[in-house]
Amino acid sequence: MLPTLYKNRYPCNARHTSTPPDMALPLLSLLPLFSLLVLSSPSIGHSAAAASSLHPNFYAHSCPTVEKIVNSVMAEAVSENPRWAASILRLHFHDCFVKGCDGSVLLDSSGVFLSEKRSNPNRDSARGFEIVDKIKLAVEAACPETVSCADILALAARDGVVLTGGPGWEVPLGRRDSLTPSLNDSNNNIPAPTNTLNTIITKFNRQGLDVVDVVALSGSHTIGKSRCASFRQRLYNQTGDGKPDETLDLGYAAKLRTRCPRTGGDQTIFSLDLVSPNRFDNQYYKNIVAKKGLLNSDEELYTASQVTRDLVEKYSVSNDVFFEQFAKSMVKMGIYRPLRGHKGKLGGFVGGLIIKHV
Ligand SMILES: *[C@@H]1O[C@H](CO)[C@@H](O)[C@H](O)[C@H]1NC(C)=O
Ligand SMILES: *[C@@H]1O[C@H](CO)[C@@H](O)[C@H](O)[C@H]1NC(C)=O
Repeated sequence: MLPTLYKNRYPCNARHTSTPPDMALPLLSLLPLFSLLVLSSPSIGHSAAAASSLHPNFYAHSCPTVEKIVNSVMAEAVSENPRWAASILRLHFHDCFVKGCDGSVLLDSSGVFLSEKRSNPNRDSARGFEIVDKIKLAVEAACPETVSCADILALAARDGVVLTGGPGWEVPLGRRDSLTPSLNDSNNNIPAPTNTLNTIITKFNRQGLDVVDVVALSGSHTIGKSRCASFRQRLYNQTGDGKPDETLDLGYAAKLRTRCPRTGGDQTIFSLDLVSPNRFDNQYYKNIVAKKGLLNSDEELYTASQVTRDLVEKYSVSNDVFFEQFAKSMVKMGIYRPLRGHKGKLGGFVGGLIIKHV
C-alpha cells in the first residue's frame, strides 16, 4: 500500500505544477517495501550501474507489464490511423533534442515556464499528446508512479515503427522526467526542414549524433506527413530568384503545387514518402535518389555532400542495412544525456533515486 502522497498521479503535461515531494520523509516509510525491491531486482542489483545508466530491464520488477500496455495502446492508435506512428516518433525526437529525452516536450506552460509545444518546430505540427496521455493513464493504473513519461514516449516511438513494418530494438529505460520545458532549446536545437545540411549535422552533433545518424534517422520520413508551409519555397522560390528547386523532380513539383499554392494552405498536409506513405521501409531513400524527397533537408542528403549521398544510396538498395542502422541510431539518440539523480522526477521512486538514499 502506497502512502497518500504517492497516489498523487500526474499526467505527462503537468508535472511541474506539483512540487516534487520531499524525499526524506516518505522514504523512511517506504523502506521495507523498497529494501525488498533492491534485493529482488536484477537491474538494481548492481546499484551503481542502475543509477548511472539506462537498461531495457529497468521496470522488470516494478512494472513488468509496461511494454505490453504501451504496445496495446499504440496498436489500437496505429490501426485507427497509421499517422500516429509517425507523430509519436517525431514527438520522441523533439523530446530528445531538447536537453535529452526527458519528457519535456509533453509539458504545458505554467508559471514562468513556456511550453515547448509553442516552439517553431512544434507549433501547429506536434501531435499525439492524447495518445501519450492514454498510455500514461493505462500504465498508472497498472503501476502507479513508476514509469516516466520519457520512457513511455521512447517505447511508444519504437512500437509505432514496428507496427508500420520497421525494425524493432530493445529500448533502454530508466529516464527521469524533467520538471521544466525549454522553449529556447526547442527553437534552436531541433532541425528544421529548411535548414542546410551543415546546420542539421551541427544540431545532431549537439545531441551526440554523427552524420551516419543524420542520414539513418532522417529515414523516419518514410512515414508521416508534412505541411505545405514546410516545403513551399522549393516549389516557387528556392534560392530567392523566383525559381523552383532544381533538385526537385518536375512532375512531382507540379503535383505538389496543385495543393500547395504560393500563398495560403499552409496547413495542408502531404505524405513525406509519396510511394508507401504508411509503411516503414527504405522507400524514402529511393525517393531521394529519384529527386522526390519532399523536404529540402531530405533532398540535401543527396545533393549537398558526398558522404551523405553515399549513405542514402546504401540505404536505398538495402532495407536490412537501413533497418539495422536506424535501430542503432534510435538507441543512441535515446540514451544521450538522460536525466538522472535528483534533477528530475521519475514516474515513481523505484529507480536510482531510492537506491541513492538507501
Ligand atoms: C538559447 O539556445 C541557444 C542554442 O542552444 C543558446 O546558445 C542560447 O544561449 C540560449 N539562450 C538562452 C537565453 O538560454
Ligand atoms: C523570391 O524570394 C526573394 C527573396 O526572399 C524575393 O525578393 C523575391 O521577390 C521572391 N520572388 C518571387 C517571384 O516570389
